[in-house]
Amino acid sequence: MTRNASVRTMASIEKLKTSPTKALWTPDSWRAKEIRQQPAYPDAAAVARVEKNLNSVPPLVSFDEIRQLKKELSQAAMGNAFLLQGGDCAESFAEFSETNLQNFFRVLIQMTIALMYGAGSPVVKVGRIAGQFAKPRSDDMEKKNGAELPSYRGDMVNGMEFESTARVPDPERLTHAYYQSAATLNFLRSLARSGYAALPRVAKWNMDFVSGSPQGRHFNEIVQRINDCLAFMNATGLNLDAAEEVSEARFYTSHESLLLNYDACLTRQDKTTGEYFVGSAHMLWIGDRTRNPNEAHVEFLRGVANPIGCKVGPSMTKDDLIRLCDVLNPNNDAGRLTFISRMGAEKVEQFLPPLVKLLKDEGRHVVWSCDPMHGNTIKAPNGIKTRKFTDILAEVRKFFAIHHAEGTHGSGVHFEMTGQDVTECLGGAQAISELDLSDRYHTHCDPRLNASQSLELAFLIAELLKKQK
Ligand code: PEP
Ligand code: CO
Repeated sequence: MTRNASVRTMASIEKLKTSPTKALWTPDSWRAKEIRQQPAYPDAAAVARVEKNLNSVPPLVSFDEIRQLKKELSQAAMGNAFLLQGGDCAESFAEFSETNLQNFFRVLIQMTIALMYGAGSPVVKVGRIAGQFAKPRSDDMEKKNGAELPSYRGDMVNGMEFESTARVPDPERLTHAYYQSAATLNFLRSLARSGYAALPRVAKWNMDFVSGSPQGRHFNEIVQRINDCLAFMNATGLNLDAAEEVSEARFYTSHESLLLNYDACLTRQDKTTGEYFVGSAHMLWIGDRTRNPNEAHVEFLRGVANPIGCKVGPSMTKDDLIRLCDVLNPNNDAGRLTFISRMGAEKVEQFLPPLVKLLKDEGRHVVWSCDPMHGNTIKAPNGIKTRKFTDILAEVRKFFAIHHAEGTHGSGVHFEMTGQDVTECLGGAQAISELDLSDRYHTHCDPRLNASQSLELAFLIAELLKKQK
């Protein structure tokens, strides 16, 4: 997208440029700001046509669902709930299937149960799904065998094949992503609401590659204990089968708000309160490369009422962290802002403690969550991008230890994971080795934990949380 490709006129953009930022937020005010990581579309008129259409389609999520998530996250900020956020690094058009979605949902619910049992608190379930199609890239160009092409930026922008026509950004992909997101969310909602994830039924799920493993057996033992407990409570006359918490699962969606025209076109105003909500997901986050408080991504998200996440990498300064709190959460509402630390296992002990202490001393209410994926990416000797299970676990351990020492709440985790039996991350109980990586390496961007590794990690985190209580 060219920076100002928009249905707005140049005159209104000039006005925004010279006005004080605070007073003048609109769903389009970001268009006057510096913006990073956007595709260079060759045809601005085609972009405008797609945007016009997206302005009138139905939003994917409702105002009340978003408010409910914010309420649940406010509990996480206070240490009374735990945030589990996870999904693909990048969703893809090709891997869109009933089986993949169902497997993802099942692993997320299994992780939830493991964490709930260990942490003894409710788990807020947020997928990186139904909109997670666009990727920030370190390099604008990719080189291969002497040729150079624009980088792949996610299926919502261009094609992954290393071939010049595939790499041309196509705005019709925004529309495709919208419809795939709608179908994804429809299916996940039906699984969550229909009783499919009701505790007594979870025990009957048959997941081949998890059920035979030690963590599969461990999981079944926990579910059996929960079921015994429910049966006992039912016997006392409490009808728990009818309770929403037991019979249904609340599930929310999130993605990186990177292509702001997509999210802005799906923004709707609640006429009863005047608030604006992004309707493309319940929660949006700002990436580590686009979190400059003076630029477009922060400008857009400051004006919407959804819960907002922001990645916090080693280059985050104290000043920027406070400015982000001021700009994104001026009323200091618990539940509005989640800081997602992604330092890397080697760096987290150096860079995270001063930031945690600063927000504590300033009395800022935020959810602190740990993304142990993005600071731990390495290249295997054969050139494949991977991550070690041990590094992932080490960063999580250090993250919780830092919060424990500071007397603050580490209340969440953020994973790149899939329900498929892929071989993208090294280690875990399955002991995936460098030689195994190419067997089932399907990710469209970063390496994900597979189903077995995800559940194993959830158990290990549950143990950590139990010890710290
Ligand atoms: C991501 O979450 O996929 C991502 C790109 O993360 P970060 O902005 O932390 O690098
Ligand atoms: Co990623």
